[in-house]
Amino acid sequence: MNDVFMNTYHRLPVVFTHGQGSWLFDTAGKRYLDWTAGIAVNCLGHNYPPLVQAITEQAQRLIHVSNYYQTDTTAAFAQELVAACAPVGMKKVFLANSGAEANEGACKIARKYSLDRYGTGRHTIISLKGSFHGRTITTLSVTGQEHLHQNFGPFTEGFRFIPSGESAALDRALDSTVCALLIEPIQGEGGIVPQPLDFMAEAARLCAERDILLICDEIQSGIGRTGTFLACQQYQIKPDIITLAKGLAGGIPVGAVLAGEKAAAVFQEGDHGSTFGGNALAAAAGRVVLRTVKEPAFLAAIERKGKAIQDGIRAWNNPAITQVRGRGLMIGVDTVSHVMPILEWALSHGLLILSAGQRTLRFLPPYTISDEEISAGLAILQEYF
Ligand SMILES: Cc1ncc(COP(=O)(O)O)c(C=O)c1O
Repeated sequence: MNDVFMNTYHRLPVVFTHGQGSWLFDTAGKRYLDWTAGIAVNCLGHNYPPLVQAITEQAQRLIHVSNYYQTDTTAAFAQELVAACAPVGMKKVFLANSGAEANEGACKIARKYSLDRYGTGRHTIISLKGSFHGRTITTLSVTGQEHLHQNFGPFTEGFRFIPSGESAALDRALDSTVCALLIEPIQGEGGIVPQPLDFMAEAARLCAERDILLICDEIQSGIGRTGTFLACQQYQIKPDIITLAKGLAGGIPVGAVLAGEKAAAVFQEGDHGSTFGGNALAAAAGRVVLRTVKEPAFLAAIERKGKAIQDGIRAWNNPAITQVRGRGLMIGVDTVSHVMPILEWALSHGLLILSAGQRTLRFLPPYTISDEEISAGLAILQEYF
């Protein structure tokens, strides 16, 4: 292991050299079943041939031009992405490079929307306790986890938090100082916590009634992860803004802020920008992801595979596991003990899994995982439990 990296991650003792499908290979040639997909990024698995072909061809043709121009590939990708999100009312997109950058853009749109209509003093953004929205100073400021609000102050002003899933608190919080409500339909880093259906319906109703923008952070839950293209489709709500990143280009960095009718025209020339945002290489990869994931049969398979994992674990009836939950291939498993030793044990037995908090195991396998690979992963985990 190389020690020149800043000490920001609890890195496990392995160095990978290549991947194939649901498998990663280390420097010693040992293979590992990957139930992390780069934290919901490599959604089509490693070395997915159509993705590799698309980025190879694009790299040979054109990698990047400034966003003062369009490329054929980025224009097509943007159009296809907006079309994929049209069922929940999205009209326009801004392309960025990461989830944090997408959420920064969303916060800027929300503040300007309100300023344009109502003047100053209505800039507060409400988000949920337990949420995670990024690592920049502003996206940390809107992240509802106290332990992340240390060391880096002063933080950006104008963010307040309410408990996840509590409609009465929501009603009280959405007052005349508020321009937006930012919600992950299913909290990822916070422990795989799906918001209740009635809470999301109430959030959409109150936001519409008070002209407060509803922003859904679908950076982890979007792009098919939960068995529908967007998780908010399962809630039958139409947010005003959606943020995406992670799986959107299957491993090439990209982020997106999508806006519906109300917010689509808020940004005007010079209001926002991003040097790399949505460059042709990322867009070529994103087009492959979109055309693969939007197929109903592909989404149905994600749902089925997720159910197989959840049912498999529940069938053990093991008292060391207190709850199994999630949607599609975004799965959380609560354990009675700390999860880090389980991650380390799984690694040594050839299985890569994640945590979400101290007592929740998190599984985010690639959508292309096979039934045999699901059984193989379950067999390794069962050996531990
Ligand atoms: C829901 C959510 N929002 C935002 C982010 C930040 O994304 P990025 O790490 O690409 O900045 C993450 C990353 O884990 C996330 O899960």
